[in-house]
Amino acid sequence: MRLVLIGFMGAGKSTVGSLLASQLGLKFIELDQIVIERSQCHSIAELVDSRGEAEFRTIEAQAARECSHVTDAVISTGGGIIGRQENFTSLVTEGSTIVFLRTSFETVCSRIGSGAERPLFRDKAKAKALFDERQVTYEKWASISVDTDGISIDEVAANILQELKKS
Ligand code: S3P
Repeated sequence: MRLVLIGFMGAGKSTVGSLLASQLGLKFIELDQIVIERSQCHSIAELVDSRGEAEFRTIEAQAARECSHVTDAVISTGGGIIGRQENFTSLVTEGSTIVFLRTSFETVCSRIGSGAERPLFRDKAKAKALFDERQVTYEKWASISVDTDGISIDEVAANILQELKKS
């Protein structure tokens, strides 16, 4: 089994992902963490600020490719993973289910705050445009979509498990 969590920044992919992994007895993999390791930077913010977004996206695509053979895992992705179609091929390998954590922009803002650690959230107007532009692709890539507004991490995880049983 392999679950891939997608969604905008602040959707709760990492928190829900690690909870689901422990509930299901699967490994938990955070793609952004692999990107940080491969780039030898201390953070995504440092990588983007020092080497630019394009370089970050290239390393992100490499990290997704590296994970394409990983099974028995919950994989949490960065919000911009859907920007490259090749990442879809890397993520949707046999036995994979892509899960979209759907969140309103208001909730995203309240969870993220200033966005200092997230280079693409520093300018709120740009972040909102990005948010609007991405929704269709998140929905298109996912075979399961769950809402996260106003409910706990446990409830989100439980809703995902319920949807998985149906599919
Ligand atoms: C990004 C999301 C971030 C991180 C980077 C870019 C994006 O991950 O990959 O700052 O483009 O949406 P999270 O979604 O985990 O915050």
